[in-house]
Amino acid sequence: MANKRRLFRSPGRANIIGEHTDYNDGLVLPTNTALYTWLTISPRTDRMVAVTADNFAEKDQFHLDEIVRNEQPTWIDYLKGVAAEIEATGIQLSGADISIYGEIPIGGGLSSSASVEIAMASAMLGIAGASMTSREMARACQRAEQTYGGVNCGIMDQFSVASCDRGHAMLLDCRTLETESVTIPAEMTLLVTDSGVKHQLTESGYNKRADECREAVKILQLEDSAIIALRDLETETLKAHAERLGEVLLRRCRHVVSENQRVRDAFNSLRLGEIVEVGSLVQCSHASLRDDFEVSCEEIESLVAIADACDGVLGSRMMGGGFGGCVLSVVRTDCIPEVSREIATQYGAVCGAEPWIHAVSAAAPAEEVALP
Ligand code: GLA
Repeated sequence: MANKRRLFRSPGRANIIGEHTDYNDGLVLPTNTALYTWLTISPRTDRMVAVTADNFAEKDQFHLDEIVRNEQPTWIDYLKGVAAEIEATGIQLSGADISIYGEIPIGGGLSSSASVEIAMASAMLGIAGASMTSREMARACQRAEQTYGGVNCGIMDQFSVASCDRGHAMLLDCRTLETESVTIPAEMTLLVTDSGVKHQLTESGYNKRADECREAVKILQLEDSAIIALRDLETETLKAHAERLGEVLLRRCRHVVSENQRVRDAFNSLRLGEIVEVGSLVQCSHASLRDDFEVSCEEIESLVAIADACDGVLGSRMMGGGFGGCVLSVVRTDCIPEVSREIATQYGAVCGAEPWIHAVSAAAPAEEVALP
């Protein structure tokens, strides 16, 4: 089995619209980008999994028969989680020597962890000669993130990284897991700028927001047992429940309900090539995330204001879990060089260092590639 090295890569994901809707059984509209997690793997004859994480120059290992969850997760826990969750489905994996290198900024809202998880799942299944549908793989990796990473995340990131087609965005219904693809018009480019504020989802308010949404569902269920998730609410029904929910939960619910509608509208606008409309929806999404869901922060606000003031920017918003990370801007493609320069100068002056800026490329989902 020696020297059977194989190489897998898994992209990052950029979410056009549909934030904090996935764990509410709602709608999202992500795409992938050519920032990769690279993973080389060779099978071993035993059940040890030995990993080198090139970004940290660190090594760690675990045995497939003794996978223990760590209270304070480190990078290896995501890999342990993926192996454990795949084996829990009845697939037998083999030990492996692995090395991983990630290009996606960690904690930037571009799903570095989902990308690592899906790369690991693809590679471990690959050497075991086993397969899962991308839907099953996404589910297993989501469980890994929840159980071993400590984040009560939804399915969006893993699903997008595992299956969103090259050149497209994917409308994903997080309840039924039905998808519909839409081409990203050539005149529109998604530009991602890192605010430099690292979010650590477990420590940020992410789990708190997920709890608040669950609490709201419990309250609403007392009135209407057909409400299983916030997905089941409409603007009108929400109004009728306002008093019971109280001010804060009402705002959380209002974000989810209005965001689901914005995802539908953005999908239709993309289909028609109406990029100005996509930009306005992105702007409305940001206002709702800031005011109703309260997951923005000062630096993100300043970056969104700078980006939105640039000629050629149609709308910007915080992306991902929030409390830092990246801002996504919908930009006219022919304005990308000027907009990038302007954001770099202006935000650079605010935060004291030139920000990392990336143009999203609608890259292919995770795949095995030839070793150079
Ligand atoms: C993180 C989670 C996703 C999703 C977003 C917010 O990226 O991993 O499941 O909830 O935040 O939309």
